[in-house]
Amino acid sequence: MNVLVLGSGGREHALAWKIGQSPNLDKLYAMPGNPGTAQIGCNIAGSPNDFNRVKEVVVEHSIDMVVVGPEEPLVKGLADYFKQDSALKDILFIGPESRGAALEGSKQFAKEFMLKHSIPTAAFRSFTSDSIAEADEFLESLSAPYVLKADGLAAGKGVLICQSLEQAKQELRNMLGGKFGSAGNTVVIEQFLSGIEVSMFILTDGTDYLLLPEAKDYKRIGDGDKGPNTGGMGAVSPVPFVDTEFCAKVRSKIIEPTLAGLRADGIPYKGFIFFGLMNCAGNPYVIEYNVRMGDPETEAVLTRIQSDLLGHLVACAKGKLKEETLEISQSMALTVVCVSAGYPDSYSKGKVISGNDLLYCNTSSGPVKVFHSGTSSSADKTLLTAGGRVLAITANNHSLCNNIAETIDVCRQQAYVQIENISYEGKTYRNDIGLDLINLSEL
Ligand code: AMP
Ligand code: GLY
Repeated sequence: MNVLVLGSGGREHALAWKIGQSPNLDKLYAMPGNPGTAQIGCNIAGSPNDFNRVKEVVVEHSIDMVVVGPEEPLVKGLADYFKQDSALKDILFIGPESRGAALEGSKQFAKEFMLKHSIPTAAFRSFTSDSIAEADEFLESLSAPYVLKADGLAAGKGVLICQSLEQAKQELRNMLGGKFGSAGNTVVIEQFLSGIEVSMFILTDGTDYLLLPEAKDYKRIGDGDKGPNTGGMGAVSPVPFVDTEFCAKVRSKIIEPTLAGLRADGIPYKGFIFFGLMNCAGNPYVIEYNVRMGDPETEAVLTRIQSDLLGHLVACAKGKLKEETLEISQSMALTVVCVSAGYPDSYSKGKVISGNDLLYCNTSSGPVKVFHSGTSSSADKTLLTAGGRVLAITANNHSLCNNIAETIDVCRQQAYVQIENISYEGKTYRNDIGLDLINLSEL
């Protein structure tokens, strides 16, 4: 079958890489893709948000299945567009319609959904510029730190954690005043949850689901979790505290009530759900839903899946996930993201990346894969930086004598050696990916 992956980052490169291993794949296309996906299939110019262009490509290349990487086209209704178009309605499609995508597209919708279906999450209220006095009162009833969230999509930047009441009140006004554009017209204020975060993922057809390997994301730019939030600077899978007991709680208190809630509310859902969770003293709480896979978590998680992802995706789109079994390797995957100097603020692009044959995941069957997050290729095929996050380097190793600390150590050595061998001006990365889990595993 012919598959079209929409998106251009490391997540999409990893999806293309995994789908590319399927015996059922004829041809893989990526729109717009990146130089990494170009090694696996064919890149096609265009934006996933340009629905007419997506249709043109699907028809021209006889695409059988569309896999949507990022959330934006889903929130804007790409799945609805397919469903309503006579030429597209039978194309297999991975990603929810806009009503399901609102789980990510509107924090207020997500919080109300969780409240309605008794899914554990932080206490909250939402406010607009007409209810600033009530918002101030609600803030005064909470204790520091204060969590403020823009309701709409804000490129992962719409959450502020304020240490003082005064700062929280000021930021509330900044958000309602347009700091995040119209995404902040409604602001959700919620209780601060203390604990350890973990990202968990399912592929669901709305009834049945496959639980993918979990991952820890490293969100801050600097070592020791210092500095501003980014899209993600690294990931590790598995996460030591996600044991059988924790997983059982996530399934029964979060995943299954979410799927039951979607069904009860008449919202069909075929695609990935990413649960951003906080482990509070052994109990999982939902911090956020995403309607897609995580980035860079995907670059770690997919290297641990042994079964045929394309087969699972086809079953998902056909509503037949009940018949599928996911095979997960007992290995550890550790991803380090190399970014441009200045990221997550302003940074320059177009820096030459060198490292020769080290620069692609599919040229190596060894333990280290290089996924492209923000790269481009010049006319003479020179690889250039083209984004804040540039490359995601993943090392995957089987557990050594079940010793997590030692396995993390080996993954770290391999990933960081690869990074040393790749160069571009301004290459920046965290040095501490995985170190906290060594300490956790020794507790
Ligand atoms: P989100 O975009 O909703 O994932 O939020 C970004 C980050 O803010 C999360 O990864 C958490 O680290 C933090 N955060 C969000 N909500 C809360 C909360 N209620 N309590 C503590 N930290 C939070
Ligand atoms: N790494 C977090 C995200 O993809 O939203």
